[in-house]
Amino acid sequence: MEEAQQIEEVALQELATLDDSKSLDDWRVKYLGKAGQMTLLVRSIGALPKEERSEAGKKINLSRKSLSDALDARTADLAARERAARLAAAKADPSLPGVAIEMGNRHPIQVVMRDIRSILKSMGFATAHGPEVELDEYNFELLNIPPDHPARDMWDTFYTTEGEVLRTHTSPVQVRAMRAHAPEPVKVICPGRVFRYEQVTARSESMFHQVEGLEVGPNVTMRDLLGVLQSFARKLFGDTRTIRVRNSFFPFTEPSIEVDVDCFNCEAKGCSICKHTGWIEILGAGMVHPVVLTNGGYDPATMTGYAFGLGIERIAMLRYRIQDIRHFYRNDLRFLRQFQSA
Ligand code: DAH
Repeated sequence: MEEAQQIEEVALQELATLDDSKSLDDWRVKYLGKAGQMTLLVRSIGALPKEERSEAGKKINLSRKSLSDALDARTADLAARERAARLAAAKADPSLPGVAIEMGNRHPIQVVMRDIRSILKSMGFATAHGPEVELDEYNFELLNIPPDHPARDMWDTFYTTEGEVLRTHTSPVQVRAMRAHAPEPVKVICPGRVFRYEQVTARSESMFHQVEGLEVGPNVTMRDLLGVLQSFARKLFGDTRTIRVRNSFFPFTEPSIEVDVDCFNCEAKGCSICKHTGWIEILGAGMVHPVVLTNGGYDPATMTGYAFGLGIERIAMLRYRIQDIRHFYRNDLRFLRQFQSA
């Protein structure tokens, strides 16, 4: 039918000139809407002689389909152009490669801390925590270090204006853990941060990490302590390691010892790491002093215990051959990225 083709032709020409969604919609109403030209034409079929209707219907439907297809294509076209314009305005370049997601890794101190904790956990130690801002009582007095006692000189201390201290070691958690369990036995480790009011040098920081160990029970002896420390040293530094014990002094243990491990770097032949002695000091330990047991709520006549404490930074420096403790807290990613944990 002539008319359908005419309308189609005009409509398509018109459509090609439109480039915003408002005019596209107007166009749709004009040709395909309820009172649109094509729609009216469809309606007019009924007025035709019967034998022409089918043929006319086909042609009109083809034209109408052609218009609605053209409208869809034009709409999609316009959307794509708008998207491109938005991208161009945002100065985005979609051909650039994506931004890679950088994977982080654990801080070396956390790597070592986790290893140490999991070794001790496998040996039956539970975990206890205590506050970093601690009472003088727990940090010193209950550990058998009275005010003004010269033993306090072993720990340079930050005091808060309220008279509390930033704990100088994890040992105060010993008394907290004992009080939480007495008179029952207790076997815990206490990991965490400690603070010292010290000149920061290659060997000492004002904040570092320790892990404390404590076992109190009816028959706990120095042999138990040495067994734990021997296994611990082997798991941490290698199966063939052996430990050595030296006499020492801590106010909260009696007797007190310092524990060395034979040098894993030179197999005890002597090198710069062990300062040519073959031995490396790794921790302090001892049998819990009766005064401390009493402060913890135990009767030292029936219960005994051992304790040990080690510095994580020191172990990490040994393990990774790090010369300067300050590297740990400089936040230099070139340093920190070198430590991948499993
Ligand atoms: N608290 C001690 C320190 O910071 C380390 C220590 C030594 C802990 C002997 C202990 C111990 O539990 O028995 O230097």
